[in-house]
Amino acid sequence: MNRRWGNVHRSGYDIRVTGIRWDPQARRPVVSPTPRELVYRFANHPRAAGMVTSPAMQRLIAGRYVSQDAEQALDVAQGLAAGGAGCTLHLRAFPVRNAQQARAQVDQYLELIEACHHIGLADADISVKMEQMGYLVGGPDVAGKNLVLVTDHAQHHGITVTLDMEQAEQVQDTLDVWRAVHAEFPSLGVAIQASLLRSEQDCADLGQLGARVRLCKGGYRGIQGQSYLRHADTDRAYVRCGRRLIDEGAYPMFATHDVRLLRIMTLLADDSGLTSQEWELQTLQGIAPHMVRKAIDEGVHVRCYLPFGPNWYSWFVGRMVEKPSNAALLVRSVVAA
Ligand code: FDA
Repeated sequence: MNRRWGNVHRSGYDIRVTGIRWDPQARRPVVSPTPRELVYRFANHPRAAGMVTSPAMQRLIAGRYVSQDAEQALDVAQGLAAGGAGCTLHLRAFPVRNAQQARAQVDQYLELIEACHHIGLADADISVKMEQMGYLVGGPDVAGKNLVLVTDHAQHHGITVTLDMEQAEQVQDTLDVWRAVHAEFPSLGVAIQASLLRSEQDCADLGQLGARVRLCKGGYRGIQGQSYLRHADTDRAYVRCGRRLIDEGAYPMFATHDVRLLRIMTLLADDSGLTSQEWELQTLQGIAPHMVRKAIDEGVHVRCYLPFGPNWYSWFVGRMVEKPSNAALLVRSVVAA
């Protein structure tokens, strides 16, 4: 059933409320477009995008949430290292449309690894997406071969690599590629989304391999029958997944800004006798700085995720959609213009 009613239209920055429709997955009426869709539309409006990518706004945003290039990201990473935190560097280039573009992204990662090594950056991790490794243009085989190139180079220089997790439809392929490469390069980690029903079992399986696992809530839209659709259910699943990782012997990397979850995971880790070198907290650069400081002061091993590169704007929009109050920054810039 997909009913639609109401018909309110407002012009302006293409912000139109076209009505209310019944969402069969959530089993409740939703305003269409949703607040998230409105933020996306607003952020992608040429004037808003032009303002945010203007040099003045870049200076405001870049360095706080994202970096414009590898050089700036490495500066931020060195600052983090001086303050007692590690980093995860993630290239935000434009979407890969052919094998050459995938190879170009691999080459950029290889250069980044060289640069980390050259400046003696301690505790560095590199985060890659299947899409960047050529998955959408060449399937799992191409993605696997490219991932081997990056992981081999990183492991040789004492740097870890972690495979991001994306849409639910890609989870099995991502884990298959991860498994194949991990067999040769045990330092390769992978992200798991607590919002997926399958993840508790995945955590148990990965734990038995002693894998590095980044546990996040999940940043993609839930699918009926495959995902928890309510936040509270995902939060409970996060705790169960975290417990599985600890009990089965994984190296858990708890990626969250949820203070309550951090407290629970810290207690579980302590109860299991894990030292601060046997698990870590991961956060996104610029989000929850007080939580990060407090965790470092309490002896928690903290790592910040640093996205950088020419397509940093799309990452920034993604963060605004996650927490629309971040959009205030963007709105203020447009209103002030
Ligand atoms: P939640 O969303 O409940 O937020 C808890 C509190 O944190 C909020 O109340 C708010 O105060 C603050 N907060 C959260 N997000 C914020 C934001 N953007 N801006 C400002 N404040 C914010 N997802 C995925 O699907 N695949 C992946 O590979 C990864 N990788 C990844 C790495 C790292 C290091 C992190 C931290 C996160 C990811 N994610 C991810 C994203 C993750 O799945 C999730 O969408 C976000 O982290 C938000 O969930 P929280 O656990 O922070 O809790």
